[in-house]
Amino acid sequence: MRIYVADTKDEMAYRAAEIIEDRLIKYPDTTLGLATGGTMIELYRYLVQMYERGIISFKSVVTFNLDEYVGIEPSHPASFRRFMYEYLFKHVDILPQNVHIPDGMAHDMRAECKSYDCAIKEHGGIDLQILGIGLNGHIGFNEPGTPFGTTTHVVDLTETTRAANAGFFGSIEDVPKQAVTMGIKNIMQSRSIILMASGEAKADMVAKALTGPITPQVPASVLQLHPQLTVILDRQAASSMPKDYFDCSFVA
Ligand code: F6R
Repeated sequence: MRIYVADTKDEMAYRAAEIIEDRLIKYPDTTLGLATGGTMIELYRYLVQMYERGIISFKSVVTFNLDEYVGIEPSHPASFRRFMYEYLFKHVDILPQNVHIPDGMAHDMRAECKSYDCAIKEHGGIDLQILGIGLNGHIGFNEPGTPFGTTTHVVDLTETTRAANAGFFGSIEDVPKQAVTMGIKNIMQSRSIILMASGEAKADMVAKALTGPITPQVPASVLQLHPQLTVILDRQAASSMPKDYFDCSFVA
């Protein structure tokens, strides 16, 4: 695991963007795993800037998003498809057929989950997966207690997660109760992972996930087992890490 501690949230986003930039310059046909949420907004802004300056292109990039709410239309202002379109896809040259987001309106969700797993396999797996972390330690929408062997599946969202996302919907009552998410197994099968977190509210969970016991009760703790994990935190999100942790770790 490599950990970078950035001074600000903005610098955290820029560092993640730089890693993606390097990768897309070297391997323009990268398969990216993408996340939504507040942590990602600045990252996508930097990627759009890099595209506009002609430094990177998404023409040969394939993307798989982690998750989507169940039961809301893709055009709903709070759908993850809409989020991706607004913050990234509409600004860059990605081909629509290369964008994959689970269909939360599918009639047969089991079939949808299976076909999402198959599509990831058919594209040769995910080269670089971007992750945020939930206040309860979730990654994707894999809530505490999710077995590590899960592939794409439907989940019941916890109240913590629904409350954290209420801002995107107006009120917690409007937040869907279910979502469809890549499983922990899909995430762990990615060849490399960037985990991003900012803000004091995430600090205790970040420390637990990165230095505590590896347990399904803290889904992000499984990332300690990934051989190619880069963690990018801002100072506040890093503030609960054990004091001696950085003595022997790589910190930039
Ligand atoms: C979103 C996702 C979630 C978020 C996490 C953090 O696609 O998979 O795991 O990354 O809930 O969300 P923010 O960034 O809004 O704090």
